[in-house]
Amino acid sequence: MSNTQPVPVASEHIELKARKVSFDWERTPLHWVPGDPFTTHTINVLHLLLPAGERWFVHVYKQVLPYITDERLRADVIGFIGQEAVHSQAHDDVLPHLRKLGLDPTPYTAQVDWFFEKLLGDRTLPPGRPRRWWLMERVALIAAIEHYTAFLGNWVLNAEELDRVGADPVMLDLLRWHGAEEVEHRSVAFELFLHLDGGYRRRARTWAAAFSALVFLWQRGVRFFMENDPTVLDARPSVAQFVRKGREGVLPSTPDMLRSIPRYLSRSYHPSQEGCTAQAAAYLASSPGANGGRI
Ligand SMILES: [Fe+2]
Ligand SMILES: [Fe+2]
Repeated sequence: MSNTQPVPVASEHIELKARKVSFDWERTPLHWVPGDPFTTHTINVLHLLLPAGERWFVHVYKQVLPYITDERLRADVIGFIGQEAVHSQAHDDVLPHLRKLGLDPTPYTAQVDWFFEKLLGDRTLPPGRPRRWWLMERVALIAAIEHYTAFLGNWVLNAEELDRVGADPVMLDLLRWHGAEEVEHRSVAFELFLHLDGGYRRRARTWAAAFSALVFLWQRGVRFFMENDPTVLDARPSVAQFVRKGREGVLPSTPDMLRSIPRYLSRSYHPSQEGCTAQAAAYLASSPGANGGRI
C-alpha cells in the first residue's frame, strides 16, 4: 500500500562532503549561555556523547559498506562517514577547554566510551547469521539516533533565542555547522536501514532502545556537569527546568520532542520530510568555522 511506504522528498537530497573546520575556544566562557548553567550544560552533553557516538557510527558503517548494492547510497554513506568523523573530532576538541575552565569530563566520557565500544561494540559472535543480526541491529539503532540528531540540527539552526540571550558565537557556530550537516545527511542512515533490512519491528524496537539510552545518558550528563561545575552551588537539574527552558526557546521544546516520536514510528516516515536542506546549505556557506575563518 503506497500510503504506508516511506515517501522521500527527492529535492531534499544533496551530495555530501566533509568540511574542514576550525574553532577557537580561547574566549568561550564556562557558561556560554550567559547566566544559564543549566542550558549551557544540557547542550554541553553533546561534547560528551558525540565523540564516542559518532566514532561508533563510522566503525559500524565501515563494516556495512560491502553490503550496499546501490551506488548512490554507497556514495551517500561514504559522505556520511566523512562528516561524522569530523563532527566527532570537533566535539572532542572542546573537552580540553572545559578542563581548563575547571570541568574535567573524563569520569563521564570513560562511561560513554564503554557504552559505545563495549556494549555496542562488535562482540565475539560466530560468522553468519548472528554477526549479521547484530550488524543490522546497530544499523537500525543509528537510523533512530539520526532521527534525533536531525531534529536537534533543525532546532539549533532555528533557535534564534540563543542569539538573543547572547550565547557564545563560536559555540553557536560549532552547533549550527554540525546541525546543518545533520540536516544535510538526515536521510542516509534511514535509507541505509531500508536498503539492508527495513523491518518495522526492528525499527520500533531499536527506536525504543535508542530513545531510552539517550534520555538516560543525557540526564546523567547534565547532572554530572552541574555537580562538577565549580561555580554552581545548587546543582539539582530537573525535568521542570528542561520544560521551562524549552518554552523560553533556549532548549528544544518538550511538546516538539514528544511529537517527533510518532513521526519516526509512522510507516510513511522518511527523514527528508523534516528539516530543510536549502537552509542547512545556506548556513554552511556562511559558517565562519567551516569556511576557514574564525570569529
Ligand atoms: Fe554528526
Ligand atoms: Fe549524523
